Amino acid sequence: MPTNWRKLALPALALTFLLAGCANSSLPQDALDPEGPFARKVHNLAMPVFGIAGIVFVIVEGLIVYSVIRFRRRSDDESPLQVHGNAKAELAWTIAPALTLALVGIFTVGTIIQLDRVPKGADVLKVNVTGHQWWWEYEYPGKQVVTANELHIPTGVDVALTLRSKDVIHSFWPPKLAGKIDVIPNRENHMTINADKPGTYYGQCAEFCGISHANMRVRVVAHEPAEFAAWVKSNAAGPATPDAADTEAVAGQALFRAKGCASCHAVKGFAAGAVGPDLTHLRQREVFAGAIFDLNEKNLRRWLRNPPGEKPGSIMPNLNLTEEEITSLIAYLDTLK
Ligand code: CUA
Repeated sequence: MPTNWRKLALPALALTFLLAGCANSSLPQDALDPEGPFARKVHNLAMPVFGIAGIVFVIVEGLIVYSVIRFRRRSDDESPLQVHGNAKAELAWTIAPALTLALVGIFTVGTIIQLDRVPKGADVLKVNVTGHQWWWEYEYPGKQVVTANELHIPTGVDVALTLRSKDVIHSFWPPKLAGKIDVIPNRENHMTINADKPGTYYGQCAEFCGISHANMRVRVVAHEPAEFAAWVKSNAAGPATPDAADTEAVAGQALFRAKGCASCHAVKGFAAGAVGPDLTHLRQREVFAGAIFDLNEKNLRRWLRNPPGEKPGSIMPNLNLTEEEITSLIAYLDTLK
């Protein structure tokens, strides 16, 4: 017996540390640390259900352990007492679980109905979310804003998302703001999010959608409403055309068309490609390529050298650009503010 306990000590210790880690609220994708009313609804259901499950577990395991010890076989010729047809016991262990599950069911269905309701009203912000292999597109209907990888929202406002997929099944999951919802081709799904306070909320695609599934991250950036209005205003406008004196950027803009970038990417007033992310205000974003890269010159260079090498399966091909061409293209991208 003592050796067995020693064998158990290490896994038990590991489990303790793991659980302690889960309780750390600084984790950016902690589903147990809601930061908005819709995530809180899920949390307020999950915690009591977990509590009930915990109580049931302790009772059942307690009875099993008690019975195993108390009624263990003591000698070879001993048979246990045979008990059949105890109506009271059978009724009890049928009715008690049925009532428990009914109670859990009532609260679960109630929460599902609440979360399913698509909010309406002038103060609701609508955003169309499209899953692509492997990045997210966000379109703000009526606002002339299309962006990628970063979903910008105002704080304290119900944001009604309509989710669609361009290719395969994805799943949109910003754990601190909501549960997860599948994003399915030829189907519209809905989810509502609302963030308590400004900040960046992290998440990820939660349905295996191909080789770069793990490179399809979710980012929700919540702003104070006034700051959000300014973001919408600047993103609704077109970008400034590169200054003629900035020959590098002008050359980059020409390359953007010559190399075919313009047939996949949109830049308001210049290119209308609809395969890859809209780049009109690329430089206002902090990340790119499915939010796997911070947006800076070094990472753009690395990306442009060989996109499928950085994000396996990337639809953006390796254009075999020279370092000079990459420099010009980045100079042009820098003007997309
Ligand atoms: Cu999209 Cu996994």
